[in-house]
Amino acid sequence: MESQQTQEKKIIFSGIQPSGHLTLGNYIGALKNWLKLQYEYRCCFAVVDLHSLTVRQDPKELRRRCMEFLVQYLACGIDPKENLIFFQSHVHTHTELAWILNCYTYMGELGRMTQFKDKSAKHADNINAGLFDYPVLMAADILLYQTDLVPVGGDQKQHLELTRDIAIRFNNLYGETFKVPEPYIPEVGARIMSLQEPTKKMSKSDENPNAYIALLDSPDVIMKKIKRAVTDSDNEIKYAEGKDGINNLLSIYSSLTGEKISDVEAKFAGKGYGQFKTEVAEVVIESLKPIQERYKDLMNNQDYVKEVYTTSAEKALSISSKTLRKVYKKVGFVPKA
Ligand code: TRP
Repeated sequence: MESQQTQEKKIIFSGIQPSGHLTLGNYIGALKNWLKLQYEYRCCFAVVDLHSLTVRQDPKELRRRCMEFLVQYLACGIDPKENLIFFQSHVHTHTELAWILNCYTYMGELGRMTQFKDKSAKHADNINAGLFDYPVLMAADILLYQTDLVPVGGDQKQHLELTRDIAIRFNNLYGETFKVPEPYIPEVGARIMSLQEPTKKMSKSDENPNAYIALLDSPDVIMKKIKRAVTDSDNEIKYAEGKDGINNLLSIYSSLTGEKISDVEAKFAGKGYGQFKTEVAEVVIESLKPIQERYKDLMNNQDYVKEVYTTSAEKALSISSKTLRKVYKKVGFVPKA
C-alpha cells in the first residue's frame, strides 16, 4: 500500500552547487520551498558537486563545502526518510547519461545559454568544455529520475527549456524514453537581494561577505551585516519602487515571520531604519538558530550523515539505472549479460 502511494507521487529533482555559502536567499528562495514539497512529492535533492568543477576549486575546500551543504539541507529540515539527499558524484549514472545526451545536443544550443556567456566572461582564463557542457549534465540529472517537476529560479529556466528539448528530441527518435519535465514555480517565492547592491540577487558566491547572510553566520555577524545593509535616505519603511534595500528587508521579514508586507509596514510605521534593521536582524537570528543548532548536532554525528547520503545514493543509483539501461538499449548498445 505504502509503496503504491509513493509510486503515485510526482517526482521532483533539484540541486544546488556547492560554491560559496548557503545563504538566507537559498533558504527563503529554495530550501523553505523544498520543505513544503517533501511530503507531497518524491524529491531528490543533490549537492551537484560535478557541476562545481566547471570553475576552479581548491580540493580541500570543495570537500568541506560539499559536506557542509548536505548537512545544511538536513539541518533545514529535509527529511531523509522521505527524500533522497546525496552527492551527485556518488551516482555514476549522471555522467554516463550526460555523455549520451551530449550526442543529442547541438553546439549552437549550448552557445546560446546565457549562463555560459556570463560565466565565460567572468572566467575568461578558464572557458573549459565542462562550462559549455554544464546544461547537458543538468539535463541528465533531471531526466534520469523521470522527473515531473523541477523547482527553478529564473536563472535556470533556460537550462530547463533545453532539458525539455533534449528529452523531446530523444523521445522522437527512439520512442517514449524520458518524462518531459515541467518547471515548478513556487506560489510566492520571495527573491532575496544582495544587502549591498539590492538590485542584484543575493549570491552565495559574492566576493563581499556583507552582501549575503550565510545560514551559518553567528548572531553578531548577522546583526552587523543587516545594520550595514544599503537602504535609502527617505526614512520611510514602505515597499515602493526605487526603495530596493528596504523592499528587500521587508521581504526577508515577511517571509520569515509569515506576516504580510502590508502588515509589516503598518507595524513599523513612523519608526526609524535603525530600529527596523535591528528587528529584521532579530527575526533572522531567531529563524536560523534552530538550523544552526541542528547543524552542529549533525556535524557531531558523522555516522548518521554518512548513512543518509550512502543510502540515498544507493536508491538514486537503482532508480536512475533503470533509465540508463533503457537509453543504452534504445541507442543500440549490446546489453550486459
Ligand atoms: N544549475 C543549477 C544551478 O546552478 C544547479 C543544478 C544542477 C540543478 N543540476 C540540477 C538544478 C538539476 C535543478 C535540477 O542552480
